Amino acid sequence: MKVIRTIEELRAEVKHRTSTGAGPVGLVPTMGYLHEGHASLMKRAREMTGTVVLSIFVNPIQFGPGEDFETYPRDEQRDLAVAESNGVDIVFIPGVQEMYPKPTKTKVAVSELTSLLCGASRPGHFDGVTTVVNKLFNIVKPDFAFFGMKDAQQVAVIEQMVYDLNLDVKIVPCPIVREADGLALSSRNVYLKPEEREQALVLSRSLNTALEQLEKGSITTAGEVRDLLTKVISESPIADIDYAEVLSFPDMIPLENDSRLSGTGNATILALAVRFGKTRLIDNALFQSKEGIPHV
Ligand code: PAJ
Repeated sequence: MKVIRTIEELRAEVKHRTSTGAGPVGLVPTMGYLHEGHASLMKRAREMTGTVVLSIFVNPIQFGPGEDFETYPRDEQRDLAVAESNGVDIVFIPGVQEMYPKPTKTKVAVSELTSLLCGASRPGHFDGVTTVVNKLFNIVKPDFAFFGMKDAQQVAVIEQMVYDLNLDVKIVPCPIVREADGLALSSRNVYLKPEEREQALVLSRSLNTALEQLEKGSITTAGEVRDLLTKVISESPIADIDYAEVLSFPDMIPLENDSRLSGTGNATILALAVRFGKTRLIDNALFQSKEGIPHV
């Protein structure tokens, strides 16, 4: 496994591998502090491509003022071990100076999809994501790029950017990886105090309860789903709901309270963001009515 810190060297190494028949290039973009969720993307990339590039870059431009850029957890040595054990060929770890040597005057911004959910709570966040992902695509030139459905809105936004700008890369969405008790893995879970960690289970519990009741037909409308999600999350006295939304996926249009989720043939996403103390957690679940084919 090669550890590369400059754009120039990264380009040369990818070019070398490609020209010597290594096969398609897969990119797994991350901000490090790697866990099994990230590892699942590396494994999928390993199955599908001949050169697996893992990028680790805590991207300052996707953090708002007062967010956790400075304190975002970092552990390079451990990350390298995780990368190695998951068959990564190249780890790209650029510094901020390498990625942004001068203040940028160009950004990539996707409209509409970014104005709600995490985009509403974190203004400018998705512009930072699409700009850095575009830069990474231009640097690595991957054939496939792997993203987790943990950040489903991010997947929808990146798919839209790839479509709109004719980027020559195939996005591969990968399922959410969870702890045994249901909590979705996240680098930010380390911030949770023991009580918060315990109470954070209301996220997955509320999603599972809603999916079960939808399957049984005991609830059918978006309004009923919203109410149920809110009710289950509110069983935790310390949960502070940012949003509990029901939208079409991947076009991310909020459903009217009286619209029915079954029988439409469309994919619906139940999307949550909830604060526990200082930590904001997100989670989601897709509901696919039986006759439909999900886009991702
Ligand atoms: P980061 O939060 O490090 O996540 C990197 C990738 O891992 C994302 O595609 C994310 O969806 C995926 N991931 C995180 N937790 C997961 C889980 N529990 N199951 C499955 N996949 C999971 O997302 C980012 O970094 C950044 O915004 C980035 C795309 C790298 C741009 O800076």
